[in-house]
Amino acid sequence: MAKEKFYITTPIYYPSDKLHIGHSYCTVATDTMARYKRMRGFDVKFLTGTDEHGQKIERIAKEKGVSPKEYVDGIVKWVKELWKLLDISYDYYIRTTDEKHINAVQKIFKKLYENGDIYKSSYEGLYCTPCETFYTERQLVDGKCPDCGREVETLKEESYFFKLSKYQDRIIKHIEEHPDFIQPATRKNEMINNFLKPGLEDLCISRTSFKWGIPVDFDPGHIVYVWVDALSNYISALGYGSSDDSDFKRYWPADIHVVGKEIVRFHTIIWPAMLMALDLPLPKKVFGHGWLIIGGGKMSKSKGNVVDPKVLVDKYGVDSIRYFLLREIAFGQDGNFTNEALINRINSDLANDLGNLLSRTVGMIDKYFKGILPSEQKSNSFDSEIINTVQNTVKKVEEYMEKMLFSDAFSEIWVLVRRCNKYIDETTPWILAKDENKKSELAGIMYTLAETLRIIAVLISPGMPNTPKEIYKQLCIEDEYLKTWDSIEKFGNLPKEVKIQKGNVVFPRLDLEKELEELETAMAKAQSESVANKKDSKENSQKEELITIDDFSKIKLKVGKIIKCEKVEKSDKLLKSQIKIGDEVRQIVSGIAAHYSPEEMVGKKVVVVTNLKPVKLRGVLSEGMILAASDDEGNLKAVTIDGDIKDGSEVK
Ligand code: ME8
Ligand code: MG
Repeated sequence: MAKEKFYITTPIYYPSDKLHIGHSYCTVATDTMARYKRMRGFDVKFLTGTDEHGQKIERIAKEKGVSPKEYVDGIVKWVKELWKLLDISYDYYIRTTDEKHINAVQKIFKKLYENGDIYKSSYEGLYCTPCETFYTERQLVDGKCPDCGREVETLKEESYFFKLSKYQDRIIKHIEEHPDFIQPATRKNEMINNFLKPGLEDLCISRTSFKWGIPVDFDPGHIVYVWVDALSNYISALGYGSSDDSDFKRYWPADIHVVGKEIVRFHTIIWPAMLMALDLPLPKKVFGHGWLIIGGGKMSKSKGNVVDPKVLVDKYGVDSIRYFLLREIAFGQDGNFTNEALINRINSDLANDLGNLLSRTVGMIDKYFKGILPSEQKSNSFDSEIINTVQNTVKKVEEYMEKMLFSDAFSEIWVLVRRCNKYIDETTPWILAKDENKKSELAGIMYTLAETLRIIAVLISPGMPNTPKEIYKQLCIEDEYLKTWDSIEKFGNLPKEVKIQKGNVVFPRLDLEKELEELETAMAKAQSESVANKKDSKENSQKEELITIDDFSKIKLKVGKIIKCEKVEKSDKLLKSQIKIGDEVRQIVSGIAAHYSPEEMVGKKVVVVTNLKPVKLRGVLSEGMILAASDDEGNLKAVTIDGDIKDGSEVK
């Protein structure tokens, strides 16, 4: 029978910085799904790649004194090494600098233009260069980029626009008629209420202010930018628009686009609109996962928040890291990454539970039966419960895997692992071993353990591709069928005369304190190398961006005392403060609600920018800005005055 196809993708990553454990998280999860589907008999196409164009990359390359292509080539090489290290089984790696992709994007742009979905106009907007996104004034927080908090600039230029607004109703209808289209379901409401219902604006899709990108072939001064370029990767990789589009015909539409929560919007609004305009079917599902929050825990407080996956894999092995990422955080929600949690998981789940089960089982077969079980075996009163648990586990794991609920799947498997360890305690093999008449009962226990271990090995293999190999080796399982998913639908497929071969301890126990210390050193070393890299480019850019004292004096800073503060209605981010600055009282809206309660703010003496153009945030007037410091870990602290000084005093 012909295999059914399954097409799954990760986002294409920006190569502007080295990828960290957060990117690995998304890719490991997608890989796990791809491996699972392969085991279930699907013809899987798993796509990943890099998003290599844009002004930011152009600028970084310039700072480094290399061409943009040279710069991205270097990063891509490193990314591919990382995916190899993490055992990512992608079938195709798309680079937006590939000829194939460039041609496809030019065709797509032209087709949209000829169909009347693209028009030329001019664009004026507030642009955040690092995020490569235009914002409306309403979307800014404290007059700054709502995503990264950096300054935005007003840009006006001739641009092509995509008629996104035209597709609004069709998209709403599609989302409502396909409840599985956006997963998890909470993200669906967010899209409808926050973006679709308030109304879509047409999308600016070309730029003339930089060169590093795909030129519009019929108007070469224009560069196609960001989302039309990036999103098209999912079909250009399949040969869409080329002379060989057989993969496109076979695999499109995608079965799942896996993306981080902040880009769900682009995948469930802009991408569907583009596909509708091209008259192509929409992806079946977009799964928006949460973020790995990096920086909790003692190590990173002093050392910064770069967790280098290579350091972790080198130290603990790829399966430990993959297991941790899949098990620790419910896919879909945010979760913390800490070294301590990692080591604790390795110790409890891998060393204690699984590692122990394997070494106890193999050890007993070795000791009591000289390494090979007799075929005469008797079952005991606990067996039927174990067999039931195994069968239920397989079913539940299948259900969870289909929904990409990896953490639930693994936690279910570990219930079984622990049940087996308990089974050993219940059946007391060491007592039976003393009685010659109990040999067949003892052999039955060993068989139950070996067969369950085999099934566990199959169940974990999508997420942990290496550990099963060691389990099979120690249980002398060579028959490939016994490693397939089909073979675990029934308990008892393992031949009775189980042989074993004693092997290494699969997951040695770790000493928490020692490991934390070693990790801290290793991470710091890895980071100082990458910080050293960053530093010279930063120094260069700072040289270019130095300002004079006159520039600085344009900014008026004063001490203000907060006399009243309250939440801005319908906003999680904004606080509205009444601030006394000498003789006047001003109202200022700030994006600090996640960090301060209104009560905490009252009475604080803060530093205020007083000559900023007033803006309205969520319809509320804001006349100035409160200064605050923020770090990469998401902490934010208002700048306050050290000691007693009158409000209204100038800050220079
Ligand atoms: O957005 N935890 O690229 P990107 C979890 N090029 N996921 C994380 C993460 C973290 N700490 N940090 C990043 C882009 N990610 C575009 C995509 S697709 C047509 C174009 C995830 O490199 C993030 O959520 O900024 C996103 O899904 C992915 O990495 C790529 O991020
Ligand atoms: Mg991003």
